[in-house]
Amino acid sequence: MNDNMLRIENLTVRVDNHQILKDFSLNINKGEVHVLLGPNGAGKTTLIKAILGFKKYVVESGKICFKGEDITNLSISERVSKGIGVLFQRPPEINGVKLSKLLTVCNQKRSAFTKETTENACDSDLDEYMNNLAQRLKFSEDYLERDVNIGISGGEIKRSEILQMMVMQPDLLLFDEPDSGVDVENVEIIASVMRELLDRDKVPSKQEKSGLIITHLGYILKFLGHITRAHIVMNGKILCSGNPKQIINAVMKNGFEKCKECISCIDPTEKFEEVDFTL
Ligand SMILES: Nc1ncnc2c1ncn2[C@@H]1O[C@H](COP(=O)(O)OP(=O)(O)O)[C@@H](O)[C@H]1O
Ligand SMILES: [Mg+2]
Repeated sequence: MNDNMLRIENLTVRVDNHQILKDFSLNINKGEVHVLLGPNGAGKTTLIKAILGFKKYVVESGKICFKGEDITNLSISERVSKGIGVLFQRPPEINGVKLSKLLTVCNQKRSAFTKETTENACDSDLDEYMNNLAQRLKFSEDYLERDVNIGISGGEIKRSEILQMMVMQPDLLLFDEPDSGVDVENVEIIASVMRELLDRDKVPSKQEKSGLIITHLGYILKFLGHITRAHIVMNGKILCSGNPKQIINAVMKNGFEKCKECISCIDPTEKFEEVDFTL
């Protein structure tokens, strides 16, 4: 059985004639959660957008494989249908589209709802299902009837993105700074749903989802249980990979500048035990 969820091989990505990712490689197996750290402008968001297949992010060389299939040339829509979900760092505001409508489309793309209900389920069942999810995320029902991301706070935008993920139930979840601009209470709400979406409460043999989390703060990781590996990205490349606790502690203490000195001190192929941040 192939346990590989995401394999990025020697990816070089150009945006508007600037090479942003250079020979970038990353491997995430089924059930693994990886963390990506790095200074502003390192190329972290570029990586997420390249995985999703945004046209502006041109792959010059290398490839992206998802569940063993080369998806480098597929459209965003095809990639999402195959099970890739994303929480954007800066999601777009969408005038004239209600969140409830967007969620219905998400549900058609890849349905958590139909997995949980009978074939005879009707629209009102779907409404109830979405209302229940919204309540879990502390949204009032009228919130679903507002235009997507218009006139709402940073914390609400991130919760709205998480709501879309709950409806889609992706197999690979990409989180681009789920905690930035979010207060402590909202971080905890977001993290508890991330934990569930990532199967972190299941026994390891039943953990089927994989995740890639970009964060500047270790705080959100405390709620997520086992984290497999952390990677430091600088200048469009992974500089080092390893034990998440060691790496995060080192970054908190020394900042990213010191990482440059660590280039050869951690072997990126070395196997580390998973680290439970909740301990
Ligand atoms: N759409 C774009 N057009 C032009 N430059 C871009 C675009 N997206 C990213 N970049 C540039 O690519 C570099 C990496 O950006 P980004 O991936 O957003 O970094 P990070 O998420 O690590 O902070 C930055 O120098 C940024 O200015
Ligand atoms: Mg970014």
